[in-house]
Amino acid sequence: MPNTTIAPSNSDGRVDPALVPQKTLSNGAVMPAMGMGTFGSDSVPPEKVADAVKVGLSLGWRHFDCAAVYGNETVIGHALAQGIQGGVRRQDLWITSKLWNDNHGQDRVEAACEKSLRELRLDYLDLYLVHWPFPNHHGPGVGVDSRDPHARPYVHDNFMKTWRAMERLVTRGLVRSIGTSNMTIPKLTLLLRDAQIRPVVNEMELHPHFQQPELFRFVVDNQIQPVAYSPLGSPARPERDRSASDTADLDDPVILDIAAQHRCHPAAVCLKWALQRGQVPIPFSVNPKNLAANLQAAVTEPLTASEMLAIEKSDRNCRLIKGQVFLWNGAKSWEDLWDLDGEIAL
Ligand SMILES: NC(=O)c1ccc[n+]([C@@H]2O[C@H](COP(=O)([O-])OP(=O)(O)OC[C@H]3O[C@@H](n4cnc5c(N)ncnc54)[C@H](OP(=O)(O)O)[C@@H]3O)[C@@H](O)[C@H]2O)c1
Repeated sequence: MPNTTIAPSNSDGRVDPALVPQKTLSNGAVMPAMGMGTFGSDSVPPEKVADAVKVGLSLGWRHFDCAAVYGNETVIGHALAQGIQGGVRRQDLWITSKLWNDNHGQDRVEAACEKSLRELRLDYLDLYLVHWPFPNHHGPGVGVDSRDPHARPYVHDNFMKTWRAMERLVTRGLVRSIGTSNMTIPKLTLLLRDAQIRPVVNEMELHPHFQQPELFRFVVDNQIQPVAYSPLGSPARPERDRSASDTADLDDPVILDIAAQHRCHPAAVCLKWALQRGQVPIPFSVNPKNLAANLQAAVTEPLTASEMLAIEKSDRNCRLIKGQVFLWNGAKSWEDLWDLDGEIAL
């Protein structure tokens, strides 16, 4: 007999934010266990993303994953201010932003954070992440062959200068929590050894076809909350992040079968799986129907243990965001960014 799903939401699709599961991080901060992505993948204009944030707020979304490099923090700031004027309490929001790669180093972090705060119209961030562990950057909309001529491999001493400046943001009260993104086990091992304030989150690519079991286990074992980017397999990702061998989570027969059982979209299955596995998914959408369905996935019937197992077995180790544009002169291939043999690639 097919499972029936009773959505504890209003007929307009709204979900009571108090019903959305939460995660308590290692520093005691409490984060909504699902967030809304805000990266327009170089194709969705800032105003459209800001409109989605307004719709999201009205539907019950309270956690927003922002970043300076997404180029839309000013308009998102207006949307958040409008939400707060409309009665959403700041303390009920969870706002993440990220330090872009061209602002690494002890002297640039504070100004970068203050700019994001100004643009987002906030006096503190709930979470500030180092977006990538390298100071290597690219302009908006570049192709896969674009390279930063000054790009360098990971240098731990340099990363620690950036991290010390991140720690000062906490001391100054500009941000409540700090974390990392796109890290690997060897890099996190060094950071955990040297940090005075530990990262509470690592934002990483996670979806059924890319489960990263080893890194996932490592961060959980070290009380670092995994936040899952591209949780639906990023079907609209930029051209530079597409390869012929990529697979599509939303077309996976196992996911489709479970979606049919639950009478929901395969996207909802990916999100339920993410939540039940213990990661915090941050799906992107500018479609009000999808925004409502994605949040409802967090409060409706969970997957069964056998469905969870079937998805676990569907891993294809298919990394979509390979990061070629961050490679340095002399690097062999995108694999060098991810320390696949357990050593930091130099
Ligand atoms: N830290 C990092 O380095 C990093 C890297 C990548 C991404 N991120 C973050 O993660 C967020 C999410 O990742 P992502 O944008 O790459 O990919 P994603 O969330 O996996 O996929 C987004 C795509 O899925 C579609 N979609 C959303 N809900 C749907 C539904 N219910 N049914 C059908 N289609 C649906 C959206 O189209 P519609 O708009 O039409 O719904 C959009 O094209 C980003 O926005 C960003 O905040 C972080």
